[in-house]
Amino acid sequence: MVSDLAIVGGSSHPGLPGRIGETLGVDLVDVRSKRFPDGELDVSVDPAVRGCDVYVVQSLGPPVNEHLIELLLLGDACRRANARRLTAVIPYLGYARKDRRTSPGDAVGLAVVADLLGPSRIDRAVLVDPHVTQVDSIFRVPLEVVSGMQPIAEELKGDIAGEAVVVAPDLGAVALAERYARALGIEEMSVVRKTRVSGSDVSVTGLVGDSVGGSAIIVDDMISTGGTIAAAVRILREQGSPERIVVAATHGVFVEGAVDALLSLQIERLVVSDSLPNTDLPAEVTVVGLARSLADTILRLSQPGHSPG
Ligand code: R5P
Repeated sequence: MVSDLAIVGGSSHPGLPGRIGETLGVDLVDVRSKRFPDGELDVSVDPAVRGCDVYVVQSLGPPVNEHLIELLLLGDACRRANARRLTAVIPYLGYARKDRRTSPGDAVGLAVVADLLGPSRIDRAVLVDPHVTQVDSIFRVPLEVVSGMQPIAEELKGDIAGEAVVVAPDLGAVALAERYARALGIEEMSVVRKTRVSGSDVSVTGLVGDSVGGSAIIVDDMISTGGTIAAAVRILREQGSPERIVVAATHGVFVEGAVDALLSLQIERLVVSDSLPNTDLPAEVTVVGLARSLADTILRLSQPGHSPG
């Protein structure tokens, strides 16, 4: 164990920072968090982080703006306490879907977040399956990307027998579907032709690729409203008639009602990671833990001689 390693847990995920700390055999740094009467956040960390290699774990799920500010304040507190090095561990990166302008006049949320988490505030960041693959060119600090797909595929392996096809619910998920197909040893793949109409609505015009008879495994990086997966399930039932449908996604953002809406479509199994703090999920939802992968990454980064980049 590296003696000056310190883990700071943000409030966005009550469980994961502690599980990472347990895996590493490190107690979480004490954090004090208060609100000013007007609602502004006031945080401080144990000044013992002075000289330490500090990892601030904060998922940027809803309410994303609150969690982002808290992450920035925790980082600032560590910097002012003279942490030797500061790494933001962000299991779910909010705003990642707004990686470009889709209409003239748009803001690009991901660029703003990447600027806020720039070299003046953190030394580097650890992300889990960020929505866009080109994050490296948007962030100005070195990044480590941890795979949530791999442990999810491990979880699914024993469950898939006979004829099976991996389904990308939109074009953006094709590369991910290919990685799942390789990890699961499945050759057949289908892609849903989807267009996003609004934040909550999608339209589907077809399904291309291999036929779907046995198990259809729909994979995506994230599920928010569930609209993308629901549209894929519907077209699979119309055109493919799979015997069973399994859904896998790294990030279960699950806005209000999403899980119930998906399970009402007779999805047999839904597998997500614990990048977000979902609680009280029904038995059909399996949550795969990321603590081990994140702890291994932190341990590797903390080794003497490992400098940012
Ligand atoms: C889109 O590009 C993403 O990969 C997901 O497919 C999408 O964000 C999921 O959102 P929702 O569950 O609201 O359809």
